[in-house]
Amino acid sequence: GEPNLQEIHHVLLAVANKAGQIIISAHPSTVDTKKNSSDLVTETDKAVEDMVSSTLKSKYPDYQFLGEESSPTPTSALLTPAPTFICDPIDGTTNFVHAFPYISISLAFAHNLVPLVGVVYNPFTQHLYHAIKGQGAFLSCPDIASSFPADGGAVQAQYVTRKLPLRSPAPPLQGLNQALVAVEWGNERSGANWEAKTKTFSALAGEHGGMVHSLRSLGSAALNCCGVAAGFLDAYWEGGCWAWDVAAGWVIVTEAGGKVVGGNPGEEEVRLDARRYLVVRGGEGQRAMIEDFWGELAGRLT
Ligand code: IPD
Repeated sequence: GEPNLQEIHHVLLAVANKAGQIIISAHPSTVDTKKNSSDLVTETDKAVEDMVSSTLKSKYPDYQFLGEESSPTPTSALLTPAPTFICDPIDGTTNFVHAFPYISISLAFAHNLVPLVGVVYNPFTQHLYHAIKGQGAFLSCPDIASSFPADGGAVQAQYVTRKLPLRSPAPPLQGLNQALVAVEWGNERSGANWEAKTKTFSALAGEHGGMVHSLRSLGSAALNCCGVAAGFLDAYWEGGCWAWDVAAGWVIVTEAGGKVVGGNPGEEEVRLDARRYLVVRGGEGQRAMIEDFWGELAGRLT
């Protein structure tokens, strides 16, 4: 029968909770490099993915599983229209290795190549982003402000769930020169893509280009998508990440009114495994922002 999205959402939340506990209690002792010194993997990435895949495979034996650590590359061939769980056990491994508290477990469910359920959880900040296609996107997190006793007593954090975007209606997008934009350095540090990316960073930020308010490179594609969903980032552009980095964030940001297009000019339709994306938040001026952004790109991504 048809996948039960509500149930899958429930299961993914439980898996994210467990993954968060593993991540929080781990010390990234063994750090291995994959492609080069900017492409890292730890024992914890593998331990989390093992837990996630065994849990999901025993509960949903008929569904496919696509995970960062268990997938050989190139992975595009592995993403099929079948019902598929897509997992990045630690999105932001470099951050994890440095104890920079901006990482997430990213869990998605896709069918017919469309991501339908997304759960992104940062166990360090306890920010949990989640969405089911057609049902809106939400952030659940500790609500310190309203659980901070007026008499200065101990904080007993309550949780709150807020609909995304956080400011509603989303304020208009005022153009690139008013934008806060996430980009990523990625782990491809030479060649044509590297040239295109670094020149584009300069064009976006420089006085003779878009002159954005600023660029941010926070190190987690999934959380970048969630930042655009929440509205504290106006756009996110990357070439080089994989379906597991963006699948969950994709549901969350599109449910929050954001739009995902291709990373190259004119790529209106983009596949989940295209590996180059432009994500722009909801709000009046979204279309103009996409066009302006494409206009600043210095070379095409492959
Ligand atoms: C990486 C992060 C990073 C992005 C890289 C990804 P990982 O994922 O999402 O922000 O720039 O392209 O590979 O390796 O930490 O799971």
